[in-house]
Amino acid sequence: MCGIVGMIGQDLTVKRLIDALKKLEYRGYDSAGVAFCDRNGLNVRKAAGRISVLENSLGDEIESNILQGIAHTRWATHGGPSDFNAHPHTDCTGKIAVVHNGIVENFDRLREQLEMNGHVFKSATDTEVIAHLVEDHYKGDLVAALRHTLVDLEGAYAIGVIHQDQPDVIVAARKGSPLVVGCTNGSGYMASDVTPLLRYLRDVQFIEDGELACIRSGRVEIFRLDGSAVVKSPTKITWSEDSAEKGGYPHFMIKEIFEEPQTLRNAITGRIRKGLPYFRELEPLKETIEKAGSITVLACGTSFHAGLVFQRFLQDYAEIRVDIDVASEFRYKNLVLKEDDIVVAISQSGETADTLEGIRKARRCGAKIVSLTNVVGSTISRESDAVIYINAGPEIGVAATKTYVAQLSVLLLMGAGLAMIRKPGNGEIFQLVNEIEGMPTVFENVLSSADEQCQRLAREYYQFRHFMYMGRGYSYPTALEGALKLKEISYIHATGYQAGELKHGPIALLDRDFPVFAIIPEDGLKSKTLSNIMETRARDARVVAICSVDDREVSKIVNSRIEVPKVSPPLYPLVMSPFLQLFAYYVAVARGYDPDKPRNLAKSVTVE
Ligand code: F6R
Repeated sequence: MCGIVGMIGQDLTVKRLIDALKKLEYRGYDSAGVAFCDRNGLNVRKAAGRISVLENSLGDEIESNILQGIAHTRWATHGGPSDFNAHPHTDCTGKIAVVHNGIVENFDRLREQLEMNGHVFKSATDTEVIAHLVEDHYKGDLVAALRHTLVDLEGAYAIGVIHQDQPDVIVAARKGSPLVVGCTNGSGYMASDVTPLLRYLRDVQFIEDGELACIRSGRVEIFRLDGSAVVKSPTKITWSEDSAEKGGYPHFMIKEIFEEPQTLRNAITGRIRKGLPYFRELEPLKETIEKAGSITVLACGTSFHAGLVFQRFLQDYAEIRVDIDVASEFRYKNLVLKEDDIVVAISQSGETADTLEGIRKARRCGAKIVSLTNVVGSTISRESDAVIYINAGPEIGVAATKTYVAQLSVLLLMGAGLAMIRKPGNGEIFQLVNEIEGMPTVFENVLSSADEQCQRLAREYYQFRHFMYMGRGYSYPTALEGALKLKEISYIHATGYQAGELKHGPIALLDRDFPVFAIIPEDGLKSKTLSNIMETRARDARVVAICSVDDREVSKIVNSRIEVPKVSPPLYPLVMSPFLQLFAYYVAVARGYDPDKPRNLAKSVTVE
């Protein structure tokens, strides 16, 4: 799980390459490196740490003009983070440089053979075998050399290769890890995703598994492994470059939370017609959906929590059985799916390895895959029967925020749509859809109060070392998501529970140093959660509640509270999201952490 970028052509400097690489830092940031050809040959510079460390180490060289270059930001898999293990990796002659995102699974065997043949390795990485294999296969044609190399590789890769004797070309290839390429008149580009390219172009080509790209100034050619040419039309990217920048906020995370009203607007635009949900993408599957005996949802992390809300909604309103699993479990289960069963895969990035393998396995059983993702052209989107985009734009903060609210809004609408297909004439659906349509405005009105309430609360609670989040019904996924946000960016131990489960064990943990965050909206389960709050107070635990505005019952019995607008029960997970995200954000900042780059985490989990 790393970021790779490559550029060739006019007016190119090392700085341009580094600036482009920074746009991919969310993919991994334990070390970084760059390889470039100038008139004197190949140069490689690398450093452990963030890209800024590499940048500082370059000094004046950063302004040098170069002919072409590749760069890499790393999230270590094989070989710890160090200068040596940072990419790019080179061959024995020092003329070939390689960047790689993925894992070469058979690297041990390949390395042994290469060493027996006299190759000398400089790192402990799996990637270095690629550089030596290209060296062995190079006979003056870099495309052919990489093509022959790929035959030997098992595992996943997006690769960029340069050779000092061919400074007019970058060769790239993909299997299992994302890769996008493009060109303008005088330049050519490749990257792990479109963010670094937005400054230069809008028309890109997504490289598929088993394809190679030959990138030159003003021209990109794509080939299959057998050498035959691939002709594909470009995809137009509508994201603005600005949307990938911080826009004056101290962190991407807070900027992205404040974008949520617009994110919601973009997510639901075109999805409501005559007061009812409209999903053109699902029309080819209408008959399958009507007949489906059950639906299976799979996802990981925050996307899984969005899936839990979807599950509950479908069970309540569409009266259909919904199974849900985290993808890392699902992929190793004996599936009992039947031909034409529906599997809904939720993945913001569209690249999560477990989710991808989950849908591949489900497809082999004959299931139809509906995916919900944010990234156009992502692998999951390309391997699905129907794709629903949440249109949230790039999310740079590692913790999912605006994409979660986009997922929730689209899933609720989709759930409402499925409910209409299976139980037409349900008047409640009109009311819910109407409320969802109003959500962007609700968010606009609520964000500044949410910000102020959460700052205050964070000042009160940032020094605690544990948190228990609890909720019932639709508030259980909210409890899980609130706890996940807090733990991943503030490193406070936090856990989410069904409120009724506390008495079966976890309540033993509670004391005055272990606060409880109660998710208690105005819904049919409120009185039950009120009792659970009393139980926790009786154990001396401090209780913070997130409740509906002006809730006197709750305010009487808790230590602190934050208030959200009143909405219908299935919409509370949505309206509560920015509050829980802001609380986690301000706690992380108060504790002195960078919420955009939590330790040990990366945005897109493309390895198992
Ligand atoms: C948490 C977070 C992760 C992701 C998970 C799945 O804030 O972002 O838990 O939700 O890694 O990622 P996607 O949705 O890209 O499949």
